[in-house]
Amino acid sequence: MIIIDRLTKKFPHKTKTGTNSDKTAVDQLSLAIESGEIFGLLGPNGAGKTTTIRMLTMQTRPTSGEIRYAGKDLLSHGQDLKSVIGVVPQHVNFDQDLTVGENLELHARLHHMGQAERQKRIQELLDYVELSEVVNDGVRRLSGGMKRRLLIARALIHRPRILFMDEPTVALDPQVRRRIWTLIRQMARDGVTVFLTTHYIEEAESLCDRVAILNKGRLVALDTPANFCEHLGRFTVEWDGPDGREYRFFRKSMRRPRLPASRSRPVVSSSVRPISRMLSLN
Ligand SMILES: Nc1ncnc2c1ncn2[C@@H]1O[C@H](COP(=O)(O)OP(=O)(O)OP(=O)(O)O)[C@@H](O)[C@H]1O
Ligand SMILES: [Mg+2]
Repeated sequence: MIIIDRLTKKFPHKTKTGTNSDKTAVDQLSLAIESGEIFGLLGPNGAGKTTTIRMLTMQTRPTSGEIRYAGKDLLSHGQDLKSVIGVVPQHVNFDQDLTVGENLELHARLHHMGQAERQKRIQELLDYVELSEVVNDGVRRLSGGMKRRLLIARALIHRPRILFMDEPTVALDPQVRRRIWTLIRQMARDGVTVFLTTHYIEEAESLCDRVAILNKGRLVALDTPANFCEHLGRFTVEWDGPDGREYRFFRKSMRRPRLPASRSRPVVSSSVRPISRMLSLN
């Protein structure tokens, strides 16, 4: 179980007028994630999703608050806990001059795996993510979907019990996205706890046991995807109002949704569609 208690991260920041101040990226976030759960963190750009993952994986130090894995404090047991954590970063960060196989080899060595174990595990993972054919290709040659699958294989090399995935399917076509979803479900069936961030509501709905919604660093909602749909409604009408983008949720689909008289140019969409699809209907 992962316990996050009043986790806060502030970054130094210069205001418009040039004075030094702090920007709060994550603000008093408290969550409890069960073992074996697929947990989703949803939120707009700049909400604090990546910063949260970076704190949970020891890539950045919290300003305050606590993180405990199975009762152990992350900051004081960092070295032990590194072996149970795997990370799929938001941005591809392979060694660009190495092949697919060499990138995995490098990572396995960093985890102090012996040669026989490395070879076996790399072959197993390449089969798992269906990349065996390109083992000797330079990583630059891979398509976006292949790179994402290689990031997942690399994160799994040391058999982590908890996998953090920062927007694992961003910018992928629907077919590749679904293939990665199948992989994520398979990992959860294999007993891995998955903590993922996403902008896609449909991704959260399809994969996650529970979803937390973050806005400006603050937790604004936490529930199962089914309960969100039940409470909010399955369909969304989205429009540009005087105070920016506004939304109204409906339980049933309607041909002509009734909107306040002052509202113009509504965008009718299903709440399970990705944001990009909603915008393309505009
Ligand atoms: N190293 C840093 N230094 C200063 N500010 C930072 C740093 N990293 C993140 N921030 C700020 O913290 C806030 C949260 O950023 P973060 O990357 O966590 O958001 P996000 O939810 O992952 O967004 P996105 O969906 O765009 O990936 C933003 O305002 C960002 O500018
Ligand atoms: Mg991010």
